[in-house]
Amino acid sequence: MSQSLVLVGPMGAGKSTIGKLLAGILHLPFVDSDRVIEERTGADIPWIFDVEGEDGFRMRETAVLKDLLFGEPAVLATGGGIVMKEENRQMLKGDGTVVYLTASVDQLVERTYKDKKRPLLQVPDPEAKIRELIARRDSLYREVADMIIQTDRRGPKAVAQEIAQRYQA
Ligand code: S3P
Repeated sequence: MSQSLVLVGPMGAGKSTIGKLLAGILHLPFVDSDRVIEERTGADIPWIFDVEGEDGFRMRETAVLKDLLFGEPAVLATGGGIVMKEENRQMLKGDGTVVYLTASVDQLVERTYKDKKRPLLQVPDPEAKIRELIARRDSLYREVADMIIQTDRRGPKAVAQEIAQRYQA
């Protein structure tokens, strides 16, 4: 298994933005599991949810996670629902360093509620949905995390620097 640095956390926590900055600091490749799923499928995430349902997406997500964790060391950004499956949590706990990026619920709502690319938020009340997902998933992110990092009140660069320092310590 590789020693990747894996970012988990809810939609809007900044996994991709912070992950790219971190990869630059640590001289590691940056990989976003959602983008790998899209490349392998040849379709975007809304299409996968539409045609294959959330279950179909989750199967693809687990297969990609497995490959990425066994691949070359990298900074990996994962989708917000990666912790839902026990199988995924076991893999995440197995190796590498897992960082839980979090923010206040108000911040997460602010950053994501208008998003059209996130199928789970295409509901009449996206704000309630975000709150519900966070309530359901927070303990699961904590279960797999080696490090928990708050992202509100600081820019992505400062957050990436803090993670890199703690990772290299
Ligand atoms: C999801 C989060 C998304 C993406 C998919 C499902 C979720 O990733 O994997 O829309 O279940 O929270 P981001 O967290 O990068 O938005």
